[in-house]
Amino acid sequence: MKKSVLVLGLIVLFLTSCGEKKKEEVKTEEAPKVETVKEAPVVVDNLELGKKLFAEKTCTTCHQADAKVIGPSIKDINKVYADQNADIVKFLKGEAEAIVDTDPGQVAIMKANLDGFVKDLSGDELAAIAAYMRSVK
Ligand code: HEC
Repeated sequence: MKKSVLVLGLIVLFLTSCGEKKKEEVKTEEAPKVETVKEAPVVVDNLELGKKLFAEKTCTTCHQADAKVIGPSIKDINKVYADQNADIVKFLKGEAEAIVDTDPGQVAIMKANLDGFVKDLSGDELAAIAAYMRSVK
């Protein structure tokens, strides 16, 4: 009689400890899945948003993909920024000097935009604009 109680006790202990383990496993499996789902679409959205802002915020008036209009072309800007490993967002935030066209008259034209309306754009919006510019090849 005593023996069978002991055996029953052991079986119960075994079953409950197994159940707990299963729960833990499920938890750790779920966590990384959520992250990958979150990240993937953001890149595409960024480019779309950046393209939209670049047109809406009149950047296109002075910056064409290939040709210099008033400001340097997007491709010329990309080339200098890639060569010098510089950050377009920093420039747009007014935290870095002009490196593409350093003619004071030209810098003043762009500076007027930065002080005028670019300062009202959020960090996310500036990052989207920079991502779009870099995507112009
Ligand atoms: C009225 C014309 C004009 C508009 C509008 C304009 N830019 Fe510019 N931009 C310029 C000129 C001129 C330069 C060259 C001077 C310079 O490099 O800072 C320039 C330079 C730049 C540069 C290179 C800066 C460097 O390091 O030399 C970036 C990046 C840039 N513009 C981004 C933008 C973005 C993004 C917008 C829209 C939010 C915009 N520009 C709107 C005229 C303009």
